[in-house]
Amino acid sequence: MTDTPAPFRWGILGVARINRALVGPLASNGHQLLAIASRSLARARTYADAQGIPRAYGSYEELLADPDIDAVYIPLPHSMHVEWAEKAAEAKKHVLVEKPISLDGAGVRTLQSAARTHDVVITEAFMYRHHPLVAKVRELAHDGTIGRLQGVRGTFSFVLDRPADTRLDPEFGGGSLWDVGCYPVSFARTVVGQRPVAVQAAANWSPGTIDLSFFGQIQFPDDIVAHVHSSFESPFKTEMEVIGSEGRLLIKRPFKPETVETIEVMTPTETYLVTVEGPALYQGEVDDVRESARSGRAPLVTLDDSLDNVDTLTALLKGARTGNTVELP
Ligand SMILES: NC(=O)c1ccc[n+]([C@@H]2O[C@H](COP(=O)([O-])OP(=O)(O)OC[C@H]3O[C@@H](n4cnc5c(N)ncnc54)[C@H](OP(=O)(O)O)[C@@H]3O)[C@@H](O)[C@H]2O)c1
Repeated sequence: MTDTPAPFRWGILGVARINRALVGPLASNGHQLLAIASRSLARARTYADAQGIPRAYGSYEELLADPDIDAVYIPLPHSMHVEWAEKAAEAKKHVLVEKPISLDGAGVRTLQSAARTHDVVITEAFMYRHHPLVAKVRELAHDGTIGRLQGVRGTFSFVLDRPADTRLDPEFGGGSLWDVGCYPVSFARTVVGQRPVAVQAAANWSPGTIDLSFFGQIQFPDDIVAHVHSSFESPFKTEMEVIGSEGRLLIKRPFKPETVETIEVMTPTETYLVTVEGPALYQGEVDDVRESARSGRAPLVTLDDSLDNVDTLTALLKGARTGNTVELP
């Protein structure tokens, strides 16, 4: 007879809109969603009752003090990620923290230190990375299918029509690059597989000085270049294209892949689809935290990886503000 492992017990900090995508994965496949916290106890209670979550707390601190909780999911506004991920680590909780994990490299280094000191897993919630789609794209980009890899191009845009959204507030780390541009930057870096060396960029700034649209160019070693676009002011679109000397790969749903997803391969002589099957979106990142916590292995999205992404994003923003080429250290 085999023992069934105890459920891995989660708490959520904040009644965020994105929770609707996570409450299922956090309560299935051997996980238990044990508690939710809100700045308002009434909001936490209402949400807990509606979702069948056993415990509700009126502050994030109270949830972190609950000894029955193994891990927390942090879907707070961008500028609050580092502070609460660090507090969760101090409370000995493993952490799945939403993107962007930090608004500067120093924040990621703080979390690296906290993860080491308190012996917990901290990982950034780039859910798309847990679908084998991106690993397959990376393989096809380097195995000669499209010749020599020359570049990557990608976009993530949508119309943000909620004036009170923290994404529009510079105090909360607003801006399209931080919110959705982080995806094409992450995808391009993952496919190229090298740390960028320099960036150039331009943006359309709002009166409150967040970027409403962002256009970035990232230079990698070996003359590989990525072009990334993000926007809060053009209709929804996500796409990534990988360009080689003898063909291209087109990925139409790079950041929210379906369970069965396709990559379009175009060469001068033929166009065909490569099919990739993966877990339900969001389940992979939740399972990864538990497996890392229990086995001691590194999570798929390591803090070193997040540091490279954040460094690239901060360099792009500096490039757009100054109009200069910015080299990465
Ligand atoms: N991976 C994905 O597919 C995906 C999709 C969308 C968003 N996201 C990310 O998820 C995170 C949350 O995004 P969201 O759109 O779900 O956020 P949201 O609906 O605005 O929720 C954020 C929550 O943060 C809490 N909060 C604490 N202090 C706050 C303050 N001063 N102002 C506003 N809210 C405050 C609030 O919860 P309480 O009032 O209950 O405490 C609020 O509900 C962001 O990092 C975003 O980039 C990821």
